[in-house]
Formats: sequence, structure tokens, C-alpha cells
Amino acid sequence: MSEKIKNPQSKIKNFLSLSQINSDQLRLILDKVFELHGRQCDLLAGKTLAMIFEKPSLRTRVSFEQAMYELGGQAIVIRQDEVGLGKREAISDVARVLGGMVHGIAARVFDHNVLVQLAEFSGIPVINMLCDDEHPAQALADVMTLMQEFSPDHHDLACRKLAWIGDGNNVARSLAQISKLLGMKMMLASPAGYELTDAAQWGATQVRDPKQAVADADAVVTDTFVSMGQEAEKAKRLEAFRGYQVNDELLAAAPKHAVVLHCLPAYRGVEITDSVMDGPRSRVFREAHNRLHAQKGLLAVLLS
Ligand code: CP
Repeated sequence: MSEKIKNPQSKIKNFLSLSQINSDQLRLILDKVFELHGRQCDLLAGKTLAMIFEKPSLRTRVSFEQAMYELGGQAIVIRQDEVGLGKREAISDVARVLGGMVHGIAARVFDHNVLVQLAEFSGIPVINMLCDDEHPAQALADVMTLMQEFSPDHHDLACRKLAWIGDGNNVARSLAQISKLLGMKMMLASPAGYELTDAAQWGATQVRDPKQAVADADAVVTDTFVSMGQEAEKAKRLEAFRGYQVNDELLAAAPKHAVVLHCLPAYRGVEITDSVMDGPRSRVFREAHNRLHAQKGLLAVLLS
């Protein structure tokens, strides 16, 4: 059932990186996420989000499209083989065209600079749906999941600790950035050569030993060892990440209350076992479902 919701006052123009969002702006988005949770309304009636994908997606595509629908708006999905960003047409020209037709652009790209150009030339809000460097929309859903777990009344994660096990990748970077904004601690355990190189900038600690990272963690988080675009390195990576699997033995070294997150898709039996994914400490599917709720809050703040 549709209902009226007051427009949020927002000074957030784009959502390209959590490094460009301050803690008040993040709080505004998270408050809207929880306000809209489970609700449909007409806040974005008449508004359209253009969604451009250079890489495949399940959760991100469905959650943004469904979120627009639940807010009374609509989404148009454009695959890279249709739009030809930077190939069929200059990125700046695509941006100018979309800027006069729709109300927001969401893009999943390889190069973060493509997002910057879309924002510069479109004049409308641009959302990062994942690039090689960051996945900020995923981080919103992750902290929402942890707030539901550890602070359902106050949505406060200050001093909670995340243990990231595995590749210091784009998802790890966005989690480190959002942890800093929320006053959370983050320790990453990665093999040599696969660390989050800028961990210290976000106040995160980088170690080698997964058991050290999980020892006092509230949440144990992992991701694939072979991200999109790294398929040629698969054999080398799987060898390097031996010993970094999130399994029952590793969880036994974590506090009993610690929960497990994985942004998905997961390679069961590689970075995470079936017993952990499907076990009582897994919040993986709630995390996936929270993508929808997180996108609604984000879209409401950016597009309304
Ligand atoms: N976690 C995530 O971004 O999933 P998709 O790649 O399926 O969108």
C-alpha cells in the first residue's frame, strides 16, 4: 500500500565513494534506510534511474530495480553491449544525454574514473554500483545487517570489530571506509601481495593470521578470492589464499556471538564452507536481502 513520506533534506549529490561521504551524511542515509524498511511509497513517483552494467550482477541489479519500484519510480537497465560506454560513444556524451532524460544514473564499471565522468557531465546524481576500487552500496547493506544484529534500537556500531578474511579488494575498501565513519574497528587478514593497501588510511589494521583477526571480532567477513576481471589469475590466487578459508575451525577462534557476512556470489568450498554459509552464525542471506532496503534509503536521499 502506497503512503506519503516526507522528503529528506539532502546535500549528497552523488554516491561514488564512502571516502566522499561524512558521518552526518551517512547517518542521514541509514536513518532513511530504516525509516523505509518494509514500506512502499510514492516518494520517487515519475522518476527514472538509468542503470548501466559493464559487469554482471544479480543482487545489485534486482535490489536497485525493485527499490525504484517500491518508491514509486522506475529503472531502465542498459547493458554495456547496448550503450558502449567509451566505445560506441564518449562517456561524456552518454552522460549528457542521460542527464536530460532521467533523474539518476547507477553504474557498475571497471574504472572508477568512468563514474566520475558520468557525474561531471550528466548533472544528475550518480551511484557507484561497484567498480574495481569500491563497492559502497554493498557496505550500506552490511552495516544495516550488523545494526539489526547488535544495535536494533540505536543503530550504533561504535567500537564493534570486523574481521575481514581474504582479499583486500573493493568490498574490503568500502567496508574499511564505512567502519571509519561509524567508529568501528576493522582488522584484515590477507596473504602477502593481496592486502588492502590503504587500510591504514581508514584506520584499519592489516595482519597475516586469520585467527588473530577473528579473535575479538563481532563479525567475520569474507568475499571471493577471484573477483570479476581476475579470472586469468585464478590458479595463482587460489594458491595464495590457501589457509584463508572461513570454516568451522576459524569460527571456533572467534567469540561465540560473532556472525558471518559474505556479499555473494560465494564460491562454496573455496573462501567459505557450506557449514558456515548455512550455519547458525551466517547472516549472509539477510545481508543479501538488505541490499533492497539499503538501496531504498540511498535512492530516497539522492533522488527525492
Ligand atoms: N554483492 C553483489 O554486488 O552481488 P552482485 O554482483 O550479484 O550484484
